Amino acid sequence: MTQTDKDRVLIFDTTLRDGEQSPGATMTHAEKLEIAELLDEMGVDIIEAGFPVASEGDFRAVKEIAERAKQAVICGLARANPTDIDRCWEAVRHAERPRIHTFIGTSPLHRAIPNLDKEQMAERIEHTVSHARNLCDNVQWSPMDATRTEWDYLCRVVEIAIKAGATTINIPDTVGYTAPVESADLIRRLIATVPGADEVVFATHCHNDLGMATANSLAAVEGGARQIECTINGLGERAGNTALEEVVMALRTRGDILPYDTRIDTRKIMHISRRVATVSGFPVQYNKAIVGKNAFAHESGIHQDGMLKNAETFEIMRPEDVGLSATSLVMGKHSGRAALRSKLSELGVEVGDNQLKDLFVRFKELADRKKEVYDEDILALVTATTTDG
Ligand code: KIV
Ligand code: ZN
Repeated sequence: MTQTDKDRVLIFDTTLRDGEQSPGATMTHAEKLEIAELLDEMGVDIIEAGFPVASEGDFRAVKEIAERAKQAVICGLARANPTDIDRCWEAVRHAERPRIHTFIGTSPLHRAIPNLDKEQMAERIEHTVSHARNLCDNVQWSPMDATRTEWDYLCRVVEIAIKAGATTINIPDTVGYTAPVESADLIRRLIATVPGADEVVFATHCHNDLGMATANSLAAVEGGARQIECTINGLGERAGNTALEEVVMALRTRGDILPYDTRIDTRKIMHISRRVATVSGFPVQYNKAIVGKNAFAHESGIHQDGMLKNAETFEIMRPEDVGLSATSLVMGKHSGRAALRSKLSELGVEVGDNQLKDLFVRFKELADRKKEVYDEDILALVTATTTDG
């Protein structure tokens, strides 16, 4: 796919690489295989399965994921040196559709680490991308910390990588520093300026340090990026990466202003979110967009009443579209009489108006004492009103 395909955005999932780099999020071999299978089944275009040179375990996981993948491109990460790239190729070459992803930090701060000047780094990029391209015809290159790299130098190294054979150019906002308006502008200007930019796919890879990763990724798509790099639940270093479920559901829900499709079967989102939370040991915050426990839950009387009349009153997505069976009306002190009647009927209890009145008084008393009133509590109240009454 090239920049001329305006209506498809590729989803590149890096839960098993950048996500697993979160301190404490290490997954076992079997867990990685399971998550990779779920990602493949849900329609992720590219799975970044790990960093093969990092450890024997990472190598084995990437190799086995590559052997088992049915549809997705399987990608491994490699630093800008032949040893890393060869090891990466050894692992991913077992895939039907392999990709090598090689990177180097190009901003002044990152150039200082290997102590390379601009010329030396440019040469390193030329050599390593060519080396990767001689092994694999699908090569992704990333200038790490691109958003803090000098504009002229960024254009120069992107051009070198394209000439050396990169087929995808990823522009990482490694430290989550960029704002959406800059994100769109950067991609747009790169595509307009760098010779050969039309021949490759531009990707966006955002971190969430300022809570702007999703907005920055969508803005980059506006600017011309056609691959979003993301993780399930936004798992990732520090404040995490762009959350897959957020960008995918934003594209789906706001097709009116973001007319780009993905191949993701969104009904599989909730299951994979729960599995990633469990295997990584990183619980999802209750009010997290799309996959949080409360994302489709309503407690206030006004909201519950509205929901019972027309779900669109307070929901912009259908719970079934992300794999939930239904909206949850949480019974608590803010709930009204309509919600109690609906809950009773869901529990198979039919009551007359007088009993409902009595039950509602008792329910409010209980709700003042308890944060959440469960189905069992309501059934106990029904028994009590029947016995006392
Ligand atoms: O955030 C980053 O810059 C990365 C690169 C390795 C692509 O994860
Ligand atoms: Zn990253």
